[in-house]
Amino acid sequence: MINVAIDGPAGAGKSTIAKAAAKELGFIYVDTGALYRAVAYNAVKNGVIDDEQGIISMLDDTKVELKYVEGVQSVYLNGEDVSGFIRTPEISMGASKVSAIPQVREFLLNLQREIAKTNNVIMDGRDIATVVLPDAEVKIFLFASPECRAERRYKELVEKGENVSFDDVLKDVNQRDYQDSHREIAPLKPSEESIMADTSELTLQESIDLIVNTIKERIQ
Ligand code: DC
Repeated sequence: MINVAIDGPAGAGKSTIAKAAAKELGFIYVDTGALYRAVAYNAVKNGVIDDEQGIISMLDDTKVELKYVEGVQSVYLNGEDVSGFIRTPEISMGASKVSAIPQVREFLLNLQREIAKTNNVIMDGRDIATVVLPDAEVKIFLFASPECRAERRYKELVEKGENVSFDDVLKDVNQRDYQDSHREIAPLKPSEESIMADTSELTLQESIDLIVNTIKERIQ
């Protein structure tokens, strides 16, 4: 099986680019953030999101699964498809919280490795090259400058009609970068073998082409 690891900060366009590249190459796109979001959703539902011990105990009664229909991923929590409930700001915040707990990361590790063992995958996350799939054939670290990521996010929010300032969006981006790269367990960082892909000056299509070509070069 061919495994491609794509890591990088929030807002670099990872999921959109990885999804499109997977489609073009006929690989399964695995969004590992959805797993942390499903755990966070369960923690919120059980009222333990602010209680680390409560979250750890909850894992005994938590079953998370990923299913794919025509390449589209759905995440199941205890048999229920929760894909539609995990993209809210509350769950984003919760996912960030649960993802810093070592027992949660351990709990989700095998699931990620099993999918990669039995499928050609492009797996997107924060620690895929460094922890989850250290033997991946291709490792890419996808990033863009904080200003570019803030600019993209700002445009998205304005299009949605939200009243935000660019400076606040940039502040959030910088804060999240700091948190993700300074946490004790599995911090966001490139592996030694990661190919660095800077999408700051690229359009979406150029970014997709860059990733597809990089992968093709390595696996041929
Ligand atoms: O990529 P995302 O926004 O869906 O990720 C949600 C949270 O999960 C984010 O705070 C980072 C964390 N995460 C992680 O720690 N490791 C991963 N492999 C994927 C996501």
